[in-house]
Amino acid sequence: MPASIDPAALRVDGSRLWRRLEALGEVGAVHGPNGERGNARLALTDADRLGRDLVVSWMGDLGLAVSTDAVGNVTATWPGSDPAASAVMIGSHIDTVRTGGWFDGNLGVLGGLEVIETLMAAGITTRRPITVAFFTNEEGARFAPDMLGSLVFVGGMPLEEALDVRAADDSARLGDELVRIGYAGSTPCPAPVMPHAFVELHIEQGPVLEEQGITIGAVTGVQGISWTEVTITGQSAHAGTTPMRLRHDPGYVAAAITTGIRQIAEEMGGAQVATVGRCEFHPNLVNVVPAAVTMTVDLRNTDEGLLVEAEERFVALCLRLAAEEGVQIERRPLARFEPVEFDPTMIERVETTARGLGHSTMRLPSGAGHDAQMLARVCPTSMVFVPSVNGLSHNLAERTEPGDIQAGADVLLQVVLQLAEPLG
Ligand code: GLV
Ligand code: MN
Ligand code: MN
Repeated sequence: MPASIDPAALRVDGSRLWRRLEALGEVGAVHGPNGERGNARLALTDADRLGRDLVVSWMGDLGLAVSTDAVGNVTATWPGSDPAASAVMIGSHIDTVRTGGWFDGNLGVLGGLEVIETLMAAGITTRRPITVAFFTNEEGARFAPDMLGSLVFVGGMPLEEALDVRAADDSARLGDELVRIGYAGSTPCPAPVMPHAFVELHIEQGPVLEEQGITIGAVTGVQGISWTEVTITGQSAHAGTTPMRLRHDPGYVAAAITTGIRQIAEEMGGAQVATVGRCEFHPNLVNVVPAAVTMTVDLRNTDEGLLVEAEERFVALCLRLAAEEGVQIERRPLARFEPVEFDPTMIERVETTARGLGHSTMRLPSGAGHDAQMLARVCPTSMVFVPSVNGLSHNLAERTEPGDIQAGADVLLQVVLQLAEPLG
């Protein structure tokens, strides 16, 4: 290492990171009516393959040892001086929802590459290896559950079960899609060696940091997530001739579930949120009382007991509506994760590092799911949040200001450096 470079004084090249975000954002680009520029790279689609190929090419350009595991998680490792030491892992995802932005997930992965490139350019070596990972199907928008790749990585879901999951859009089998896009790797799952620590840089995806005027969030944990697919089956009938008293209408029940879970969330208050994000009518015709509706319900809370209460109230709502309207309601669990609390020393490390760099900080829980919540099962884990403009995410207009990207990546760099132990 050149004697003049103090590791603590190192900063990432924010412009280089921004250029990579921009380039990855061109893969599966989606343009909104008001000039918004976002992405559609649903997991294991052709667009996801192209995004993966681009990031893997950057990993290769840096001379990193790239490997793909049996569920398509990709890791790139920069060796440390101690061959026996486990790696400090930086990771996130590069799949997106259908109306995603440039930053969700991508920032954590490309921020990791930026950390390694910065260290390389400065000639700094570390005792521990540093690994950058992107995990398969974090979003869960195409395959459920979300965070599937990192869940399998840590041993929370058997590989065979994951490979058999079917896509919500075209029923494709996850394992077949991995083979089709060339990302069914040979590294075993769960990972043979777990990381020493895991750090994920991510946009907040909500309004809190912006509203408070704070640059860096030290994330305390991730709220619990409960996803259910609801199928309502009634009686298809003529919309003009069937009197209201004779209807068994799944469309009506779907609407009542939508308003009902919102009412539950509003009555419970606090952190409780409730969403119907997908709803399909069959046969979906103007003059036909639908035969069936398939919809999803997403319930989240930072408190496990309250999340269970919300689930119970949702089930009671379904039972009541089924009896009142004379329809059948089936509920299929898609994802269920309890709230996670991150390691206190890791939270503190993020906070003190950010303050040391002169940034304003606050502690906050994450409303969104993250790969970090899976890695927290096997190693000390933390997350660094940066503000989202207008609190928007899962939206083409998702944006984080370049200065905040620089700040977050600098915090990531310094946290990772401390954990990886720079050599003097
Ligand atoms: C993943 O982004 C989720 O929180 O739904
Ligand atoms: Mn994300
Ligand atoms: Mn997301």
